[in-house]
Amino acid sequence: MSEYRWKAAVVTLSDSGYRGEREDKSGPLLCEILTEKGYIIEKKILLPDDKQKIKDCLCRLCDEEKMDIVFTTGGTGFSPRDCTPEATMEIAGRNVPGIAEAMRLASLKITPRAMLSRGASVIRGQTLIINLPGSPKAVRENLEAVLPALDHGLAILTGRDGECAG
Ligand code: MTE
Repeated sequence: MSEYRWKAAVVTLSDSGYRGEREDKSGPLLCEILTEKGYIIEKKILLPDDKQKIKDCLCRLCDEEKMDIVFTTGGTGFSPRDCTPEATMEIAGRNVPGIAEAMRLASLKITPRAMLSRGASVIRGQTLIINLPGSPKAVRENLEAVLPALDHGLAILTGRDGECAG
């Protein structure tokens, strides 16, 4: 992590979590890990698996709240209501497939079920958006795979670093 502390938002997508039927453990875990790594968590949001609500929320976090990075957790699997990747792709400016690929590559060494996450990673404006699966275990494992490279990507995206030195 550089000396700069990135502004981050954490968005949990879960119908049962939103209805209060299930405690959201992944959102708080994400916040804990990110804070430990030096990120400033400016927004924590819990939403149902509703594509339009997710799209509106992501647009607001990028365009108005000017987050450097937005992490989502949940809604990346095969359940009929899972729509986080679709919402994310529909509001994306540019695709960043390597981050999602790296998460699945690392996760496949842990469980074959890693291939069941359809999570995307994209850029909208000057904000990076990363979809993580929903379980706390998956959140930790997927984050570990990509955190080391994010600082450099964010520095380029936000214009803090002019070029890739290597
Ligand atoms: N990735 C890692 N690293 N560890 C896991 O335990 N679980 C998988 C996958 N990715 C998992 C993982 C499972 S079981 C599913 S169904 C998908 O993520 C999608 O999860 P989601 O529907 O909660 O988003």
